[in-house]
This record gives sequence, structure tokens and C-alpha cells, in this order.
Amino acid sequence: MTRIVWHGHLTFSIHHNGVTLLIDPFFDGNPAAKISKDDVKPDFILVSHGHGDHVGDAEYIAKKTGATVISNFEIVTWLQGKGVEKAHPLHIGGGANFPFGRVKMTIAHHGSGLPDGSYGGNPGGFLITFDDGKKVYFAGDTALTYDMTLLADENVDVAILPIGDNFTMGIDDAVKAVKFIKPKVVIPAHYNTWPLIEADPNEFKRRVESETDTKCVVLDVEGTYEF
Ligand code: NI
Ligand code: MN
Repeated sequence: MTRIVWHGHLTFSIHHNGVTLLIDPFFDGNPAAKISKDDVKPDFILVSHGHGDHVGDAEYIAKKTGATVISNFEIVTWLQGKGVEKAHPLHIGGGANFPFGRVKMTIAHHGSGLPDGSYGGNPGGFLITFDDGKKVYFAGDTALTYDMTLLADENVDVAILPIGDNFTMGIDDAVKAVKFIKPKVVIPAHYNTWPLIEADPNEFKRRVESETDTKCVVLDVEGTYEF
């Protein structure tokens, strides 16, 4: 059983066979968050890019829990410079095997500057293949990209896509992304955290389910989806 929990914005936990992955941990300063950075105990922390609403509490949680950070080389190096001990650098197009399965970094069209102005490399997303074959595609902050058509070959079980517009895809482009990726299920995120990224997830759900064969699961904050 694999359980996905939405913590608001683009922060997710994925629990799989006793292992917990925490993605883009943003609790402090996140108006959508209902739990705190002290409430999570991940084994691995995945960071998609350097922006403050994604790298967020990664340093704090990694130091407190001893979790291994998985991110691009530049972000991993930056976190190691702050004293994070366990980290695995990846870069776009590359993947590596971990005790729970495989993580491959995918292309995102976005920025990646770190909160202190340091260079954060290129932004990415993650294709996570668990040891039982289940696949989760986490797009990160990104525009629609035609490279997403390559994911149709992967038989993605769950795609997590931003729909909030302004900084990332909005609903129109996220529906196109679903048509490119053809996942069994899509979960919308990165919306309604602030007024700039207001979006109606039920409009996205209506469009996805009328225009594609994909099921759309709209989660409440701290809501879960099991598959
Ligand atoms: Ni961003
Ligand atoms: Mn963001």
C-alpha cells in the first residue's frame, strides 16, 4: 500500500512499505499548512528546486531527523554546506536506486535560485518508481512542456501537477499535461496558497474527467490518497 498525503502547496508525504518520502517540505511561512515541520519524520526528503516555498524546511528537517536529501547537485551541495549530512545529488535525466525504489530527475521549465541568492542549478521534477512497480510523477514547479509526452510510456499511476497559474502551469495547460502524460490518477497542487495562485481544483477535475480517461483526486490539506 502506498499512501500520499498533501500538506498544502506542493508539499507531499508518500508512505510506502514503512518508508516515508517528504517532497518539497514547506511548513514555516506556508499559509496553507496545518501541521508543522516538527510533525514529520521522513526517511528521505526530495527537493525539486531552490525556491523558498520548496527548499523550505528541508535543512531543519534533515538535520533533526537524519533523513537523506535527494535533489540536484547544486542544492545538495548548498545543504551540505549548512551541515546536512546525508544527501544524494542527482541531475536532470539521471536516476538512482534507493531502498524504496528508483528516483529519476525530470525536466521542469522554471527557476531555481536559492533563498540566500545562491545558484540552485536547474529546476526539476521526479519520476519515482517504487520497488513494487508503482510510479508517481511529481512535476515540481513547471510550465507545460512537450517533454511530458515522453512520460506516456511510463504508465504513471499518480501524477502530481501544479495548477495555480502565474508561476507554473494553470488549469488549461495542466489539462494538456494530463493528455500528454496519461496517468491513471492526477492530483492537483500548488494552488490557493496565496491570492496570486488562486485556482478552482474542481474545475480542473471536471475538465480532466470529461476530456481524458484519467481520474482526478482533489485532496484537502492533510488529505490522503492510497493506491
Ligand atoms: Ni518555484
Ligand atoms: Mn513554488
